[in-house]
Amino acid sequence: MEILRHVVLLVHLVGFAILFGAWVVEAAARRFQATRLMDLGLLIAFLAGVVLCAPFGRDYDFNWAKIGIKLGILVVIGALAGISRSRAKKNTPLPTWTFWLIGALILTNAALAVIWR
Ligand code: HEM
Repeated sequence: MEILRHVVLLVHLVGFAILFGAWVVEAAARRFQATRLMDLGLLIAFLAGVVLCAPFGRDYDFNWAKIGIKLGILVVIGALAGISRSRAKKNTPLPTWTFWLIGALILTNAALAVIWR
């Protein structure tokens, strides 16, 4: 069961890598827009994160406050990315700071995950 938990954690990290990697690509290309690839990474991180909350393959309790805050931040990232994509389609893009906010929120979630035990 512990191995299964580590596999799900790996999937969670792949979701994070896709999400943050797609964000970096947009920043480097100076497009400053959310993309479908970011949605995919977010979905993978979310689904694997929910599975990781299940009580299997671990002998310690979670910091549930941290998990709740990470879930809230993920919802905000998803909302910002969704609004950003639909506004871009209508040719009324969101201001660039919202794109930087998405990146900061992704990093905040990763920092919470590894620093706050
Ligand atoms: C953008 C969103 C997210 C990012 C960037 C992220 C990042 C991470 C990272 C880097 C780890 C590895 C920590 C370690 O092993 O030291 C982790 C673990 C974990 N994440 Fe996430 N995560 C996100 C969203 C979520 C969500 C929404 C949930 C739950 C609904 C969740 C639940 C967990 C759990 C249960 C673990 C393993 C246990 C722990 O150390 O807390 N994550 N996450």
